[in-house]
This record gives sequence, C-alpha cells and structure tokens, in this order.
Amino acid sequence: MTYPIIQIRSDFPILTQQINKKPLIYLDNASSTQKPNVVINRERDFYRKEYATVHRGVHTLSNTATAHMENVRQKVANFIHATSSKEIVFTKGATESINLVANSWGRHYLKSGDNVIISQMEHHANIVPWQILAKEKKLNLRFLPLLPDGTLNISLLPTLIDERTRLFAVTQASNVLGTVNPLLELIDQIRKSCNAMVLVDGAQAITHKKVDVQALDCDFYVFSGHKIYGPTGIGILYAKEAILESMPPWEGGGSMIRIVSFTEETTFNEVPWRFEAGTPHIAGIMGLGSAITYIEKTGLENIQIYEKQITEYMLEMLQQIPNMVIYGPCNSDNRIGIVAFNLGKHHAYDVGSFLDQSGIAIRTGHHCAMPLITYFQVTNMCRASIAMYSDHNDIDQLAIGLNRVQQLLG
Ligand SMILES: Cc1ncc(COP(=O)(O)O)c(C=O)c1O
Repeated sequence: MTYPIIQIRSDFPILTQQINKKPLIYLDNASSTQKPNVVINRERDFYRKEYATVHRGVHTLSNTATAHMENVRQKVANFIHATSSKEIVFTKGATESINLVANSWGRHYLKSGDNVIISQMEHHANIVPWQILAKEKKLNLRFLPLLPDGTLNISLLPTLIDERTRLFAVTQASNVLGTVNPLLELIDQIRKSCNAMVLVDGAQAITHKKVDVQALDCDFYVFSGHKIYGPTGIGILYAKEAILESMPPWEGGGSMIRIVSFTEETTFNEVPWRFEAGTPHIAGIMGLGSAITYIEKTGLENIQIYEKQITEYMLEMLQQIPNMVIYGPCNSDNRIGIVAFNLGKHHAYDVGSFLDQSGIAIRTGHHCAMPLITYFQVTNMCRASIAMYSDHNDIDQLAIGLNRVQQLLG
C-alpha cells in the first residue's frame, strides 16, 4: 500500500496553520497529537444534534447517546482485542487509569511488606501513584534500572522478584527515549516466577503499534485518547474481567451504584460502570470512537511501517548536526518515533524557544520522567516526536532549525 500521506495531512486542519509567521512543524506528538476533521466534527455534531447525558433517561436523545457510548466501548475492546467490552472502563486518561488501579485494586489487595516493581523509564503517572500507596501501606517499591543504551536492564528482573511481589507496572514504550520494551519476555518472566499482576502503560505505544491485550496477557492496560488523535479528558483502563469484578469501587456517586439506602448497605453497579461515577466525558468518548475508526482506516500496521521510515530519517538527520547528543537507541528497531537529544551544553528551553520562532514545536524539560533524566545526568532534554501525519519535510525543517540554533548559540 502506498501510504496516503498527502490525504492524511489534509485531514488535520491545524497542519496548515502558521506559527510565528512560519508553517507549523509539529513534532510534539508524544505530548499530544493533533485531531483529524472526523474527530472535531464528531464532537461538534454530538453537541449540535445529539446531545443528552447517558444512562439517565428514557427519552430518545439520552438513549441514543447511551447506545453510542456503549458502541465506542465495544470499539475500544475490539481495537485492543479485549475479550469483552465489560473490560473497558472510561477514565480521564492514562494517569487516572493508573490511579484507579492503585486506589481500588492496590489499596484493597496490597499489604504491608508487599512489593511493587516499576522501571526507571516510567512516566511520573506510573511512579507517583505507587509511591503514594507505598507510603500509606508500607510497601516496598523496587525499580528495574536502565542501561546506557536506553533499554531496561532485564537481566536484573529476577533479582527484584520474590514471593511478596504483587505488581509489575511497566511502560510499553518510553515517552522520552522511544524505546519499546520486550513486554512478552518481561511478562513471561513475571508469570513464571511469581503471582504478581501486570500493568502496562500503553500511553505512548498505542498510537504506533497494534496492541493485543490477550496476546500480551497483561492484567491492566492503560492509555489516553488525546495521544491517539482523540480528544483530551478521555482515557481507557482495560482490566481482565475477573480482576475488575474483584475490585471495589474507588469513586462514589451516580451511575456506579445499584441501590443507595440509609437503612441498608448501598450496593454497586456491575463492571465496568462500577468504576464510572458521575457524568462521563460523553463528547470525548464519541471523539475517541471516531479517532479509532480513523486510525483503522489507514491501519496501524501501515502507520508503523511508514513511521519507521520517518524515524530512521530523523535519526540520520539529527546525527549529522554538530554537538548533537542523542539519548537512547540510535536505530529504528524496537523503538517508536520519539527522539530525545541535547544540543551540546545548550539548555533545552533555549533550543526549544529558538525552534519555536521558526514555527517548530518540540518538547523540552524533564518530560515527566525525572528518574530517567537523572540517570542520564542532565536536568532537561529536547524531544522530537512524530505521528502518522509527520513527513520528511518536518524532519528537514527540524534539522535546518537545529543547525541555525547551533550557529546562533555557538
Ligand atoms: C508513558 C506515559 N504514561 C502516562 C502518561 C500520562 O498520560 P495523561 O497525561 O494523558 O494521563 C503519559 C503522558 O505523556 C505518558 O507518556
């Protein structure tokens, strides 16, 4: 298949914008992706023609909105190959999904002296909820260290596992280095050596790789809608149905109950609705459904092949820039199109600000992954990250911009 890059770019209206009087070069996709017309129009149409809240009334609009929302739940289940839509919980995003697991499953099942293993390349969203819980429950939080090439030191995993290991929570792909972790191998080691649950943070990988939660055999999988061309404020928690069934509610309110009583014990709804207290982000759910349909039209396998070429080109071009320091793997295997770098000793904010003057958007700072940044003995990095609509021109402009910054800053 010839990758329809021109068509795809024309589907994203923001890509024709000028920023600082220059055509936008958007390379901050690991932070958040831009939205295609189908997603923008779906949200608009929902508010203009179909709006009502869900699971509330008998009237037509409410019933239709409820049916659409439940269709999206099924669509998400199919997208990640869950066995049933009952395994899909709508949340605000990957962060809230992890907090849900920590506060419901974690608070209920983890006991003083148990240990949780995470990795040194986690986003703060997959560190801090476990630190908070570890303090409260006196858990032992262990981490699988990085290696200088930006991969995990997998050989050390057996030394971290023991009979009190209850959870292994790991990212599928690093949001800083782009490294894709060998999940099948990691999960296999966990399954063979202890009884721990496995949580996979799919926030970065979901946009770039076909995900099959059954093949992975993970217990929890989380991601955010806004990183896969969908709206902000909507995310997914996948959990195996039996595990979800065994979890107590974490937030109370409307929709998550069966019977509320002052005289009897209040009872709760079935899964997944037990975990969806209050009015959900219905328009966001509709938008997420359209984003998934949009991705499926091109196919994640095709997106992956195309993005590999752009990633190779980005690595090649960046390596030609004087004083360039790239962190993490320098080839396009087992990685996604996220490249972290520094330009000599120049502060990432300076580099990012100069690029912005040329309409080029990259991310700078600690990337919500301070333990990883500290490992590389820096306080900040620049990060360029691609999406399905990125093209060779984006990379050329980035290289031109960085060469110019290099000349200006010396
Ligand atoms: C790997 C990873 N996990 C979790 C998150 C948190 O996602 P959100 O802020 O959408 O909840 C991010 C966001 O950058 C991420 O990259």
